[in-house]
Amino acid sequence: MLDEVRLKLDTFPYRLYQPMPWLGLQGAARDRATASRFEAMLPVIERTASEDAVDVGCNLGWYVVSLAERGIQTIGIEESPPAYRSALLAVKRSGASNAGILAMRVTPETASLVPSVDAMLLLSVWHHFVRSFGLSGATDMLETVWSRTRRVLFFETGEDEMGIEFGLPAFLPDARTWLTGYLESTCERSEVLHLGLHDAFDAAARPCRRNLFAVVRAN
Ligand SMILES: C[S@@+](CC[C@H](N)C(=O)[O-])C[C@H]1O[C@@H](n2cnc3c(N)ncnc32)[C@H](O)[C@@H]1O
Repeated sequence: MLDEVRLKLDTFPYRLYQPMPWLGLQGAARDRATASRFEAMLPVIERTASEDAVDVGCNLGWYVVSLAERGIQTIGIEESPPAYRSALLAVKRSGASNAGILAMRVTPETASLVPSVDAMLLLSVWHHFVRSFGLSGATDMLETVWSRTRRVLFFETGEDEMGIEFGLPAFLPDARTWLTGYLESTCERSEVLHLGLHDAFDAAARPCRRNLFAVVRAN
């Protein structure tokens, strides 16, 4: 019962970002869009024979539980108490015995604490790094997270739709080209694959599309 009360408080009055079938919650802002990213990532996870994963900025833990249900041991890292409390409950309710949630803010100081795994997810989080630590701090953090990645890093970020307060660079000549070059230069010895454009929304809840990348470690 305490779990239920806590969940009500933690999810009120905001609209959920990710779907939460394990908690019986419907109507997430990124409902279908969460699944479309996952469908694009799964073949790469299979091709790279990834056996474990970390989801940095896991929010409510949809990818954590979904990967765990496919036999991939997964840790979600999340800084927001309402989100990580709900994620913990989702893991528990799902019955997954191969998943966990780490309550931690990833910063230039703590990035090296991210567990080393085959597959790393960094979805819609890098722009928060840039906002908090500047482009140079975010790049250092991405380098560190890449050093913890044994096989593949999935990367997606807010692009031109984000407000000026995020301090993002000008994505010229376009976001796909800029981000491909950025990932190639930051993640050494990698091949950058484009996994399509996926639905997202801006700060004013207007729909937009974002690039999804797989950064695969070269042998
Ligand atoms: C825009 S949501 C994206 C959620 C999820 N990755 C997805 O794509 O569905 C960003 C999430 O990352 C978390 N976050 C942002 N900065 C973080 C940091 N430095 N360390 C840990 N979590 C962070 C936020 O609390 C939020 O839950």
